[in-house]
Amino acid sequence: MLRIFELDEYIKKNQIEIPKNDEFEKLVNNLAYFQNAEGNNEITNLNYERGLLLYGLIKKYHPTNVLEFGTAKGFSTLCMAWAMSEVNDKGNIFTIDYIGYDQKILHHYKKSDQIHKKIATRENLWQDVAPSSWLKNVKVLTGYGANVVSKNKFPKIQFFYIDAAHFYEGVKNDFFLSLTLSDSKSYILFDDYIERPFYGVKKLIDNEIACKFNVDLIKIDKSNYFMNNGITKSQYGMCFLEVNKNEMIETFGSENVRSYLKKFQRYEKRLRYRNNLNRKIPFLKKIRFSKLLKSRS
Ligand SMILES: C[S@@+](CC[C@H](N)C(=O)[O-])C[C@H]1O[C@@H](n2cnc3c(N)ncnc32)[C@H](O)[C@@H]1O
Repeated sequence: MLRIFELDEYIKKNQIEIPKNDEFEKLVNNLAYFQNAEGNNEITNLNYERGLLLYGLIKKYHPTNVLEFGTAKGFSTLCMAWAMSEVNDKGNIFTIDYIGYDQKILHHYKKSDQIHKKIATRENLWQDVAPSSWLKNVKVLTGYGANVVSKNKFPKIQFFYIDAAHFYEGVKNDFFLSLTLSDSKSYILFDDYIERPFYGVKKLIDNEIACKFNVDLIKIDKSNYFMNNGITKSQYGMCFLEVNKNEMIETFGSENVRSYLKKFQRYEKRLRYRNNLNRKIPFLKKIRFSKLLKSRS
């Protein structure tokens, strides 16, 4: 069943601790701004409230090991690392992204009420805002999710944050990977439950998870940006659920999970290859190979 909550209501109901205002604002100003792909391309900190929730959930459930799919600039990683440093000195946060730690990216940030931009690596950004007590247990893993998981050994994970590939098959892959890496009991938080093209979290939650298990949809964006701007007609938020590993694997079928993951790994391999090729020879981006092959056959 999908249970829907406003963020404030959820925080109050579950006695979730929120971070200190000044420090949180510093993180938001330094890491949560980005150029919005839709509308007028404004630079915004939309959805920054996810940091409050991530901090609070780590403090409440104090996992030993966390796995995050999708680091980006690391706003979410650092909100979790901050909470982790306060609850579990030995905790690990594994975070996966195909954008490398030392890769230069365009970065927007807010200073003295103005938005600025610069080129920086995630490593530079983190050095500027995070104390070593937060960073010491963050393990950065670079690569595509399925490939990284298959090539590394992980301890049992008690908390997952799924926020990398957003298309249905990709989100489902990260969900199934989470089930296989889960401790006997764990928690999963998904970002971006929304009805919009190329986003698959809602489809997965509505059709495959919330019809069998309780899922909390937490409406984090108080400005209601996506609905007010006509981008979606659906509710928007993050989905949180508790996982009992055996029960969930049994429900989805261990053989089904295994074969799905294998199939996705093959798909991801082709995607990696294609994206690497596009990076090296940018004009190839415009060519759809599948169409070209079909027209010749
Ligand atoms: C929405 S951003 C993550 C935001 C971050 N979790 C936060 O809340 O601040 C998604 C990130 O996932 C990465 N990503 C997308 N697909 C991926 C994949 N298949 N494997 C690894 N990283 C992926 C992108 O490079 C991007 O940085």
